[in-house]
Amino acid sequence: MTQHALITGASSGIGAEFARQLYARGYALTLVARRKGLLEELKSDLLRQASGDVNVCAVDLLDRTARRQFLQDVSARKIDLLINNAGRGSFGYFEELSIDQELAMLELNVAATLDVAHAIIPQMKSRRAGAIISLSSVAGFQPLPYMSTYAATKAFNFHHSIALREELRPFGVKVLIVCPGPTATEFGGVARVPGEFTGVGRDAVEMVVARSLSALESDSGFVIPGVRSWLMSVAGRLLPKVMSTRVAGWTLEPSLKQSQGHLREAK
Ligand SMILES: NC(=O)c1ccc[n+]([C@@H]2O[C@H](COP(=O)([O-])OP(=O)(O)OC[C@H]3O[C@@H](n4cnc5c(N)ncnc54)[C@H](OP(=O)(O)O)[C@@H]3O)[C@@H](O)[C@H]2O)c1
Repeated sequence: MTQHALITGASSGIGAEFARQLYARGYALTLVARRKGLLEELKSDLLRQASGDVNVCAVDLLDRTARRQFLQDVSARKIDLLINNAGRGSFGYFEELSIDQELAMLELNVAATLDVAHAIIPQMKSRRAGAIISLSSVAGFQPLPYMSTYAATKAFNFHHSIALREELRPFGVKVLIVCPGPTATEFGGVARVPGEFTGVGRDAVEMVVARSLSALESDSGFVIPGVRSWLMSVAGRLLPKVMSTRVAGWTLEPSLKQSQGHLREAK
């Protein structure tokens, strides 16, 4: 019987690549994001490759009413795999960032991911089958100066999903947490991370998604795709937090200076 995957944030980046790799494995897909045009393009690309079932839903996950309505509708369908992926970042001194944007990020990265999981888990639990892939980040292992709110949301995603993994294990529902390092998507542009962070040294989405799907098959708790990202995570996982945060601050300072240069030029 065809397996059905629900993917949030499927219009670009990691979510779109999950759609491509899962479709190639024969999954029926429900793709969610705001940009309907991009979702329709992806759907057309997939259907050109092979016939299948791709359902496109243009939903702003920041809109609680629209989100709840969508979840009520979609949870009536059998979902075998949830990719809880939609998310965004921000970059700069916390007090200089728009507080409305910071709060919106909290709503998307935290509240919306909770809402989506909460709506889908009951059907998986009652069937005693299903899987959830939750997107955290290497930023989830430690506080990050200049990305303080984003890193905290990703720590939340990590801890919450690891706890759900234990809750759901007796019911045959798998949970995998994916912790990518910098990956070549629209993320850096949306977060306005300048310079080398957006330009070089980013992992390919194909590798990130392929390793995530292998990790799901082997029922790993979490995966850090790629050696570079794994090395980036070591300080955050092993050093005392105050020390690893100081090191992370030094690493991000050149990008901060660059971003402030851009801001001065723009004025
Ligand atoms: N790229 C990285 O370096 C990196 C590293 C670690 C973790 N991650 C995590 O990976 C996940 C995916 O990010 P990405 O790198 O693939 O970035 P991306 O290319 O910017 O994709 C983000 C996706 O989220 C969707 N989205 C944003 N706001 C939304 C909203 N209000 N309602 C519905 N959908 C919304 C976007 O679609 P629309 O704009 O069309 O709505 C897009 O499809 C995020 O959770 C991110 O934290 C990324």
